[in-house]
Amino acid sequence: MNILDGIGSLLVLYFWFSLITTGLSQTVVVGQKEPVVALVGDDVILPCSLSPSISAEDQTVEWQRTGLDPKEVHYYTDGRDQPDVQNPLYWERTSLFKEELRKGNMSLLLTGVKPTDAGYFTCFVPTLKSTVKKSVLKLIVGAVSQPVISIVVSKDYGVVLRCDSGGWYPEPEMIWLDSDGTVLPADGPTETGTDSEGLYNARGHVTVQKTDNNTFTCRVQQQKINHMMETQINVPGDLFQWSREAKAGLTICVLILLVILVAAVLAGLYFNMRRELTRKNADSARKNADSARKNADSARKNADSEPADCYLTNANVEPSDCYLMYSDCNLTV
Ligand SMILES: *[C@@H]1O[C@H](CO)[C@@H](O)[C@H](O)[C@H]1NC(C)=O
Ligand SMILES: *[C@@H]1O[C@H](CO)[C@@H](O)[C@H](O)[C@H]1NC(C)=O
Repeated sequence: MNILDGIGSLLVLYFWFSLITTGLSQTVVVGQKEPVVALVGDDVILPCSLSPSISAEDQTVEWQRTGLDPKEVHYYTDGRDQPDVQNPLYWERTSLFKEELRKGNMSLLLTGVKPTDAGYFTCFVPTLKSTVKKSVLKLIVGAVSQPVISIVVSKDYGVVLRCDSGGWYPEPEMIWLDSDGTVLPADGPTETGTDSEGLYNARGHVTVQKTDNNTFTCRVQQQKINHMMETQINVPGDLFQWSREAKAGLTICVLILLVILVAAVLAGLYFNMRRELTRKNADSARKNADSARKNADSARKNADSEPADCYLTNANVEPSDCYLMYSDCNLTV
């Protein structure tokens, strides 16, 4: 009885153990959570593998795309590719890595990526004895366009340029450069948005000053994935009305002229005032002199007339005495 019980327990234990180990060792299909990004014309690898790895050579490997009819992008079974079971859109554009298949790597190489390839791809292993036979992967196709530069407006100094670029993924950054490769400060941050396909477009402005050859570059880049597109523009020199230096120079000139003008006016006023003052002084001096002379004249006239009286009344009085002692004259009468 005890022995049978023991055997029963062991059997139960063994049953659970085998269930756990098969559960743990179950091979599943593994893809990639992050989207795969490709540019139009690129060759791209869509990752998919078995984990833990077992050979996939004897499995059926089916790559499908959602919304495609027939949905087969690539079909491998009986140890070889089956192009007759494949959507014509993908003829001669797909392949598996044959040496990698042995290691359970069922990644698909897709060549000459087209905008219409964007979407969800399924890596499906129907022959796998597993609960996870599929993996879904998103392919994003970035149709990177050449940035387009346009001249927006010619300001009193400098020229405003605009740069537009669309069809980017992930989000790009935009920078402006002069002909020496120096980064120019943009007029505000780059405006970015997404289109209906989820691709980013970018727009930026810059105000540029006259340089040696007026060549400027708009560069749109995705540093993380090493993508870059740039466009150059040669701004006609006559669009630059005034350089900043010329404007500053002109301002200084105008200021100096103003200062000179004000100084001249002040100096003129000052000298005018002084001349007026001197003239007034001279006038009053002359007036004083005149009145002094008049006084003297009248005094002389008085003196001239007095002696006659003196002479008539007193023969002893000399006219000269009378003149000198005019006040005494009448007294002596
Ligand atoms: C599968 O093979 C491709 C092509 O050789 C390779 O790029 C990729 O890293 C491999 N994946 C794994 C999980 O080994
Ligand atoms: C402008 O000058 C830079 C060097 O300063 C030169 O590399 C570039 O080719 C020139 N561009 C034009 C259009 O002359």
